[in-house]
Amino acid sequence: MPKAKLGVLISGDGSNLQAIIDRIEAGRLNAEISVVISSKRDAYGLRRAADHGINSVAVVRKDHKNAEEFNLAILKELQDNQVDLVVLAGFMLLIGSEVLSAYPNRVINLHPALLPSFPGDNGIKDALDYGVRITGVTVHFADKTFDTGPIILQDFVPVHQNDSEEELAKRVHKTEHELLPRAIHLLVEGRIRRDGRKVSILGRNSEQKGLKITF
Ligand code: GAR
Repeated sequence: MPKAKLGVLISGDGSNLQAIIDRIEAGRLNAEISVVISSKRDAYGLRRAADHGINSVAVVRKDHKNAEEFNLAILKELQDNQVDLVVLAGFMLLIGSEVLSAYPNRVINLHPALLPSFPGDNGIKDALDYGVRITGVTVHFADKTFDTGPIILQDFVPVHQNDSEEELAKRVHKTEHELLPRAIHLLVEGRIRRDGRKVSILGRNSEQKGLKITF
């Protein structure tokens, strides 16, 4: 099976990018990262990419006159690098229809809460402040609004009494670092089916066909 070419979009630390890199380097994910695109020039994730010899670029919103041009600049990087699957791994801006329509069912997003609860930029803090006993992680297909697309995988994370935001965040990130590479693995293996909002995971030897990610 050809290796899926990933475009990983980040805005900050890039610990999830690192989890993907580690999984690939361990030979546990049949993919390569063709490009890392950061919405911030000083994102630590760019350093992580460089440390592993991965091609990267910053595409910054304020360098473009509107959201459409910003998204077209991202699309150009994805296409120039022949990306098959777009992974939003801590990318904190809305990805536009320019990218979504070029990559139908091939843009996935990571969110640090159990959607549809606690969407937005502060999923961990919002869950903690609300007082839930259980929060978690969601990987979903991106659509044209924040955090609303069909859910691919979720896992729960317990909230402990007297948790600080940092303590809870640590547990959430640990779960993210497992769940996001797993979702990518299932997609590149063609084991994800989508019927409207319903997503199913196919067994390894299923006769059914999943989404095609590599072309
Ligand atoms: C992750 O927790 C991710 O779920 C979150 O940003 C963090 C990025 O961490 N994304 C969102 O909140 C999107 N709404 P990382 O840069 O260390 O991978």
